[in-house]
Amino acid sequence: MGQIIACANQKGGVGKTTTVVNLSTYLALAGDAVLVIDLDPQGNTTSGFGLDRDEIRHSVYEAIIEDRRLSDLVVPTAIPGLSLVPSSISLAGAEVELAPLPQRERRLARILSELVDSYDYIVLDCPPSLGLLTVNALTAADAVVIPIQCEYYALEGLSQLIATINLVRNHLNPGLAIKGVVLTMYDPRTNLSAEVDAEVRKHLGPAVFDTVIPRSVRLSEAPSYGLPIALYRPDSKGAEAYAALAAELRERDGRPEPHARTASDESTSGVEGNREAGDRSSR
Ligand SMILES: Nc1ncnc2c1ncn2[C@@H]1O[C@H](COP(=O)(O)OP(=O)(O)OP(=O)(O)O)[C@@H](O)[C@H]1O
Ligand SMILES: [Mg+2]
Repeated sequence: MGQIIACANQKGGVGKTTTVVNLSTYLALAGDAVLVIDLDPQGNTTSGFGLDRDEIRHSVYEAIIEDRRLSDLVVPTAIPGLSLVPSSISLAGAEVELAPLPQRERRLARILSELVDSYDYIVLDCPPSLGLLTVNALTAADAVVIPIQCEYYALEGLSQLIATINLVRNHLNPGLAIKGVVLTMYDPRTNLSAEVDAEVRKHLGPAVFDTVIPRSVRLSEAPSYGLPIALYRPDSKGAEAYAALAAELRERDGRPEPHARTASDESTSGVEGNREAGDRSSR
């Protein structure tokens, strides 16, 4: 049975999407069948995998609001073993449209149950808010990954996020675990990054991944080419860091040794969606 991981932090710009795109990529390259679902109306994960948002006609919105089958919305990506359910701008209205619906916090959990056995990991990219889309993600998830940016006030807002996670645990999803906290945009040249690292580890202890993601120009450039770092600059420090993060997460989960796909491997696994969906969103 697959594991559902939500990448969440209501703070904007902390590295949620960069983590989702690149962590998922290295999980797939290690041999796991991975599905990424872009729950952010901004659609940065969708474009980060090279899909043109202007051309997307079918998105996760249709599953959440219009009860369309999620499997009809799955499209392949350039990474073998990694599929995507794209976001679209219509998702911006979903928070409001969800509000009056019955079981509004559980809609994603319900529609995901159809797919969970087809993947090793389903990774959810959340918008920067604690609204209904994030609550749906936390309700559907087995575990949360929380990126924290190495900057002033790094821990600001964290207590609010933890409080939301606890609320979800108490009322909607008792099994929700914190998979780990990942420090992002670490700059080894500054004392600040080291201070934030020490502070976060003091507060959160073993929840913090050993792997730290460095600030890397290559990581910030890759989305403009619609490529995960593994395809854009596989030898960069940022690529090494996300590969290490995936390895650490797989180790925490006791996953089998990677059977090392390469990014150019043609063989794919996992549900790739119907051809129609794939063709519609092909680049
Ligand atoms: N390690 C890194 N080094 C350099 N730039 C990074 C790194 N991680 C992320 N960035 C850049 O920082 C910006 C914010 O990152 P990202 O989009 O991943 O954050 P986010 O938390 O998903 O943002 P939002 O809350 O808007 O969804 C992006 O321009 C991204 O390219
Ligand atoms: Mg994002």
